[in-house]
Amino acid sequence: MGPGELLLDIGSGYGRVLDYLWERGFKHVFGLESDFRYLEKNPLSVVCGRGEQAPFKDETFGAIFSIGVLSYFLEDSKRTQLLNEIHRILKSRGLLFLSCFLISGDEYHQNKYREGQIEYGTYGIFESDSGGIFRHSDEDELRALLDNFHILSWKARSFTTMNKRKASGVIIEAQKQ
Ligand SMILES: C[S@@+](CC[C@H](N)C(=O)[O-])C[C@H]1O[C@@H](n2cnc3c(N)ncnc32)[C@H](O)[C@@H]1O
Repeated sequence: MGPGELLLDIGSGYGRVLDYLWERGFKHVFGLESDFRYLEKNPLSVVCGRGEQAPFKDETFGAIFSIGVLSYFLEDSKRTQLLNEIHRILKSRGLLFLSCFLISGDEYHQNKYREGQIEYGTYGIFESDSGGIFRHSDEDELRALLDNFHILSWKARSFTTMNKRKASGVIIEAQKQ
């Protein structure tokens, strides 16, 4: 991937990924963030909008990043929409770097998922201790979401949640087919 390539970070938050890329010589980096409160804090080019309705033309970006964002997508339809949009706005053979939480086997999360299944109807959706509602991904569901991509690498990891708990996660590199 050359430094002239357009890159997009979906769910860019306070700009951690954008800063990382900028410092490594990628000067054509854009963010797409749904929470307007983050926009003022970021000096780089961030657009306010939603990943599932990305305001960009087809085949615009050489690579797209989505780090820690999929847990905010609770409904199956929204998750499919997000991956369809990423596919649409990526150039042919463009790269997707996606990292997200997976369903975790520890007692704390298993209990949360059980409560969440009763409340929200899907195993993996739960209310965190701070009151946010998130969805940890089922591995098979995640692989199905990436059906239009060729998975180049799938690295299982243990991540720390916002509530300082350990949870399973994955870092995926995939290519648009
Ligand atoms: C956990 S933060 C991760 C921020 C950044 N990717 C990072 O790794 O530092 C998730 C971000 O996704 C944003 N987000 C949630 N739903 C979104 C959506 N539908 N479209 C775009 N951004 C979204 C949130 O506002 C939040 O800033």
